Amino acid sequence: MHTRFRSLSRLPSSTFHTSHTFTHSLPTNNSGYRTAPLLHINGQPVPPSLAAQARPNQTLLSYLRSTLGLTGTKLGCGEGGCGACTVVLSAYCPRRNTLLHQSVNACLFPVLACDGKMITTVEGVGSWKKLDVHHSSASAREKDDNLHPIQRAMVDMHGSQCGFCTPGIIMAMYGLFATEDGEGPSRVSHLEEHLDGNLCRCTGYRPIWDAARSLCVDEGMGVVRGPCGVPCRECPEREVCEMECNVREREGVGSMDVVHSCTQRKVVEFRKVVDEKHGSDWWKQPMDMFPKELLPTTENTEIREQLSKPLVVVDSSIHNGGTWLQPHTLEELLDLFRDYAPAEKGGIKMVVGNTEVGIETKFKHAVYNRLVHPKESIHSLYEVLETESHFHVGACSSLSALQQFCHRVLHTNLATDVQNDTALHKKRTAKPIHDMLRWFASTQIRNVACLGGNLATASPISDMNPLLASMNAQIVLASRPVSDGGIERRKIAVKDFFTGYRTVDKKDIEVIERVDIPMVSEFEYVAPFKQARRREDDISIVTSGMRMRLSPSEHSWVIADVAIAFGGMAPKTVLANKTMAAMLGKAFEESTFAEARAVLQHEFRMPDDVPGGQAEYRLTLACSFLYKFYLHCAAELKKDVEASASKDNFPAVPAIPSDEESAIGGFVSAPKPSIRGAQSFPAPKVATGLEATHLAASNAESAKVLASPKEPSKLDSVGQPATHASGPLHCTGEAAYTDDIPAPENLLHGSLILASKCHAPLASIDITPALSIPGVFGAYTHQDIEKLGGDNRMGPILLDDVAFLPVGEKVEFVGQVLGIVVGASQEIAEKGARAVVVEYGEEEAGNAIVSIEDAIKAGSFWTDFRHEMKRGGDVYHILSQTEVDGKPLVVVEGSIRSGGQEHFYLEPNSTLAIPSESGTNLTIYASTQAPTKTQDFCARVTNTPAARVVVRMKRMGGGFGGKETRSVFSSVAAAVAAKCSNRPVRLTLNRDTDMSITGGRHAFVTYYRAGAVVNDDGTVKLHALDVKLYNNGGCKFDLTGPVMDRALFHVDNCYNWPNFHSVGTPCKTSQPPHTAFRGFGGPQGMVITEHIMDHFAIKCNVSGDKLRRDNMYTLQDCTPFGMRFGDNFTGKWNVPSMYDQLYNTLDVPGRRAAIAAFNAKNKWTKRGIALIPTKFGIAFTAKYMNQGGALVHLYTDGTVLVSHGGTEMGQGLHTKVCQVAAQAFGIPLDDVYVNDSSTDKVANTIPSAASMSTDLNGMATLDACRKILERIQPIRDQLPPNAKLSEVAKKAFYERVDLSAHGFYALDNDRCGYDWNKDRPEDFPVDLPENSWKGHPFNYFTQGVALAEVEIDVLTGDHKTLSADVIVDVGSSINPAIDIGQIEGAFIQGMGWSTIEEVVYADDDHTWIRPRARVFTTGPGTYKIPCFNDVPERFNVSLLENADNPFAVHSSKAVGEPPFFLGCSVFFAIKDAVTAARGENSGYFEFRMPATSERIRMACGDVISSECIATEFSTFQPKGSF
Ligand SMILES: Cc1cc2nc3c(=O)[nH]c(=O)nc-3n(C[C@H](O)[C@H](O)[C@H](O)COP(=O)(O)OP(=O)(O)OC[C@H]3O[C@@H](n4cnc5c(N)ncnc54)[C@H](O)[C@@H]3O)c2cc1C
Ligand code: FES
Ligand code: FES
Repeated sequence: MHTRFRSLSRLPSSTFHTSHTFTHSLPTNNSGYRTAPLLHINGQPVPPSLAAQARPNQTLLSYLRSTLGLTGTKLGCGEGGCGACTVVLSAYCPRRNTLLHQSVNACLFPVLACDGKMITTVEGVGSWKKLDVHHSSASAREKDDNLHPIQRAMVDMHGSQCGFCTPGIIMAMYGLFATEDGEGPSRVSHLEEHLDGNLCRCTGYRPIWDAARSLCVDEGMGVVRGPCGVPCRECPEREVCEMECNVREREGVGSMDVVHSCTQRKVVEFRKVVDEKHGSDWWKQPMDMFPKELLPTTENTEIREQLSKPLVVVDSSIHNGGTWLQPHTLEELLDLFRDYAPAEKGGIKMVVGNTEVGIETKFKHAVYNRLVHPKESIHSLYEVLETESHFHVGACSSLSALQQFCHRVLHTNLATDVQNDTALHKKRTAKPIHDMLRWFASTQIRNVACLGGNLATASPISDMNPLLASMNAQIVLASRPVSDGGIERRKIAVKDFFTGYRTVDKKDIEVIERVDIPMVSEFEYVAPFKQARRREDDISIVTSGMRMRLSPSEHSWVIADVAIAFGGMAPKTVLANKTMAAMLGKAFEESTFAEARAVLQHEFRMPDDVPGGQAEYRLTLACSFLYKFYLHCAAELKKDVEASASKDNFPAVPAIPSDEESAIGGFVSAPKPSIRGAQSFPAPKVATGLEATHLAASNAESAKVLASPKEPSKLDSVGQPATHASGPLHCTGEAAYTDDIPAPENLLHGSLILASKCHAPLASIDITPALSIPGVFGAYTHQDIEKLGGDNRMGPILLDDVAFLPVGEKVEFVGQVLGIVVGASQEIAEKGARAVVVEYGEEEAGNAIVSIEDAIKAGSFWTDFRHEMKRGGDVYHILSQTEVDGKPLVVVEGSIRSGGQEHFYLEPNSTLAIPSESGTNLTIYASTQAPTKTQDFCARVTNTPAARVVVRMKRMGGGFGGKETRSVFSSVAAAVAAKCSNRPVRLTLNRDTDMSITGGRHAFVTYYRAGAVVNDDGTVKLHALDVKLYNNGGCKFDLTGPVMDRALFHVDNCYNWPNFHSVGTPCKTSQPPHTAFRGFGGPQGMVITEHIMDHFAIKCNVSGDKLRRDNMYTLQDCTPFGMRFGDNFTGKWNVPSMYDQLYNTLDVPGRRAAIAAFNAKNKWTKRGIALIPTKFGIAFTAKYMNQGGALVHLYTDGTVLVSHGGTEMGQGLHTKVCQVAAQAFGIPLDDVYVNDSSTDKVANTIPSAASMSTDLNGMATLDACRKILERIQPIRDQLPPNAKLSEVAKKAFYERVDLSAHGFYALDNDRCGYDWNKDRPEDFPVDLPENSWKGHPFNYFTQGVALAEVEIDVLTGDHKTLSADVIVDVGSSINPAIDIGQIEGAFIQGMGWSTIEEVVYADDDHTWIRPRARVFTTGPGTYKIPCFNDVPERFNVSLLENADNPFAVHSSKAVGEPPFFLGCSVFFAIKDAVTAARGENSGYFEFRMPATSERIRMACGDVISSECIATEFSTFQPKGSF
């Protein structure tokens, strides 16, 4: 029985029959159709009353969450791009006579398409609920959970942080493990090929890879390899290697003070645990769960009979969702098309995977009254066959089925028929299709999407269409024009099928039945090409299929046939006819291709404002693909000729120089990487930190209790790599997020009314059309706030924003909130919001200010918040010199741009507002980092006393700063609606709304002049910096000023500038207000100096590594803001030693030499490396914010409940705080619990931000623990020394001792705060550093260094990160596993910001986007965060040893933000590779951030890209939004 992990009792008994026997009848109408689907969820049938509620236009996700209340499956994006909604669909496949278990995106897949199939959700996989056995010890309790091995692996390997992505990832793995049809659990390579449809914004993926791999049959079965890939036993460095896999074998050798843990060892050990507990057949659970009555062999004739009837579902509810038809035969299908498809007959829409139709319905609000979903029993639509001459692909067969078919063809053993041309040609036909499909969308999409859908949609950037066009594929269209007549078939070539933008040559009554792909013939070559912003799950920028047949002539090979098709170069899939004509009949040689390239450039040159933009890059890509194709064909031809018996009769094949070979292959054919990593950290210890001095100052006795060094004890919690407290709940979907809270009675759903343009006054809002929609309850605007007597003004620092924009005021950004509509469901509320009629006055003169450059031109600044930092001499004067003390002064000058970043927390903003006490009180459940701010503004805007507003926050699905201030706006909207309607209101933002209105990281533009002195010994010393920073704050101040301040504090990074002048000017534009984001301006500041370092290195012709090392701060130095380094000031200064450690142990000089050798050998593939340090100041720069509070209750059973001022967003704060409290009381970690963050328990809290939450709330918790410990000490003294805490607590209770305490902590006055405008006091001591009179902005610095190595494809701009080694000083870690998780997650987020994540606005650079100022990147489809395969292939992280920190609790250090900047090492490594591609003499170039494939390609600069740009290569910059 493999269903043992599930807790059946968790499924609502009112919802499901508990028996597998299906006893109910489905309703049928008189015509013999079924009118409700037969649904099975988690092995159990859904009762007819609930099945009948499934609507034709309803997604499976909506049905699971709203109708069945199964909230484990999450809504992350609603567009198939994040995988949070992944479930497994199991069905019997008649063609393969087996069960298929496939992961699908429930947010797109129609619920009615699940008819006759089984859906498994995360609730059906396993449960944290314990078996019904009582155990007293925690370890016994843990053993008896109901976790499935995949869930257990994820928990144990720290695979979840916020946990919002986790159920989807578990389901994707569950599907993959089950797909290997009886061959046993998956192989590593299978997972690596397919785990491509899920995003995680927190973890950095490495631990998830570990968890997945740990369950694979082949992982760890063979030789133990280190993360470097070398088998440990064969490693030449075996004697010095400190990886645990090696150390184990060298027992007794190596530091016992360091815990080494590497992927390989961990997964091997985990496998043993799984095998012991679960046996080896755990992966068969889906087969075992599958209801037998759905198999064709079922004896349940009632079911058989039901399923044999076509399904017709009509929605007559208020949703009015149309009709769903599921014909069983081709004739039935064609009859439906004949009778309904023509427009005059009302139309009909075929849906197969719904991956296009679902998007049209959701985002373009398309309404289809009739949806037809052909049943799989229509073989000609679903089968994939091969004949001697063709592959025949049923138009509705899934892309996965096609991919598997090609895989089988490719892996059919050739040994016996190696001479068999047919077999060879089959493989050559299958390969390009197979390779292209590997990069087509994601596994979840491919499992349901079909080729017919790709063709019929006619997307200009379809991946398969150009390939099929180039392969001469034919489409077979079927129709049945006459009732009861025969089926008519028409053939059309794919190349002729596309008639215009998204239009095709298909009659209304026709359906695509199949696609016929001809086999390639002798000397015929096909290659697919694709380049996208991200490698996996991304739509192409340019995609292409190219085919060429060569024939031998007397002197050369001749191009006998050629087809070159492109996507992304025109409004439809096109053949490059002129280019093809220029090639046909010509000799197969490089010059022919060079001539063809010139024709291609003419044929496809696009205007500047072409939709999609990137005109020059797209043309460059098309030309580069052509060149790659030439090399590909030459290589293949050479192989064929050499293998041929008549090779001596053939003309010579054009030779390819060896350094050109690196251009062959690339994006499509590249292997997916295998991600490995090693982590090391100092052996766990309970370190003593700030609590020793701080508590000693407050009370000597209690300090003794808490802070005295102890012998290690088995009850020690601090220092242990404990798993995330909510890990098991994350992995089972049992962790509830705001949108998962069960609907209270009378719940209304909300949707915001948003401005669709800006730069004009709001003339009027008419809500009456919305109110007339059935199911809409109300619509509220600014006037309703007035009626409530509320204050509409909002904003965290300046009250310059509003809750709802009043009529008459200027609309300042596209997406500004005008009001809210509430209704019976979210769909209805959204429909209502769309129906509201909004009118705008005349646009203001001039264009809306969108970019920083626009703002500079218009002088649109917050001038009161322009800050300046100066030290040393007058830099203007200094930089006008040529010498300093007789030594040459080298001056560099330039500008740097870094783009914005979208938070992309997986859980969008969500609030549930519940009025009570006749509407006088409000309880707000919100996904927010700032409960107090939420309370404050909900109270003000609704005119409710703060004491009557309670804000509760259990957990967030990620925050990263995005829910520090901007979440408050949506909570306020829900609160207003709840107050006005006196009903509970839920407002969960759609991903696109969230991304359109909540702002993100600030883009920066910086202008610099800098000087360095060249010493006699050749060393270069930084001398003076003059830098002007501008950031794009959007239209409201929000946190723009403080973000700029932190950038100013970090411009120096780790380097000493004796003369320094920086000015930061916050710019006001028409973008949404930008806000906090991990690093809070620090990374934008540090990146400036690192750019300047590169500039100096090139200008002075010195090593960048040495330049950096030579200019690092030493203990004698101090920062421009007057903070000194060293023990009493900021603690240990570890950056130089960490830098040396990585430089030496990783042999950076040797690596650079190896890279140089590689680059010399490869013209089109270049490698680069970068070693980048960071120091990050810890403290809120606003002094008052450096405080924390806690409330601790000790219960008489000896367990402890902690509430504190912080919020849990995945960073493990609650786990760490529990560790601190458990340590204080000397109890097991399991006995301490944090429930939620609530303003009625701990009031007046500070947002969880600035990485400070453990520092502040950990200390506050200790303060509360101290008070209780102090009170119970006399009781303890009366009991035997080994008395349990429960005995002490009980006795104390009876003796009337207060067992609850409030704790508080404020950072020392002289260790935080900075007054920018304070003049030097006259009596300020001369020996103190300049500017130190202004304050001491940081308590200490968290420090780190990273080394990254990358490889770029010069012709396409594609890149991969080969390795990253990171070392971070996080003090004495309270929880090394959590800290390593934070480092890995931050690194990948920083890597994303600096490489593939590009926010795009409708600005001067993007005039094809309308209206001006709108953000274009509003979902995972357009905005790419790193995914599973973007992680460095070798990713090693270590925590620094001996890194005590006397300034924080238990000697720890803040970790959340500091490592973010280290991810930029990947950017600088890319820059290094680009420099290599440009050649040694190219000099300095401005390489803007992010390093998208476009920027990489266009910066490499070669003859191809130069031909494709109109301007000079040296000044050309790809467009960007800054
Ligand atoms: C997250 C995501 C990623 C994607 N990535 C890619 C990608 O990398 N490359 C790419 O090219 N595309 C991509 N797509 C687009 C999409 O997946 C494909 O176009 C897919 O092939 C559509 O198939 P479907 O079965 O889901 O179509 P559906 O949505 O079910 O139907 C699409 C259209 O085709 C029509 N249709 C379907 N079958 C037939 C038929 N047999 N006869 C007549 N009309 C028919 C439907 O009526 C409808 O108009 C992506 C989509 C999503 C959501
Ligand atoms: S919610 Fe379905 S893929 Fe994002
Ligand atoms: S743990 Fe993956 S998104 Fe948070």
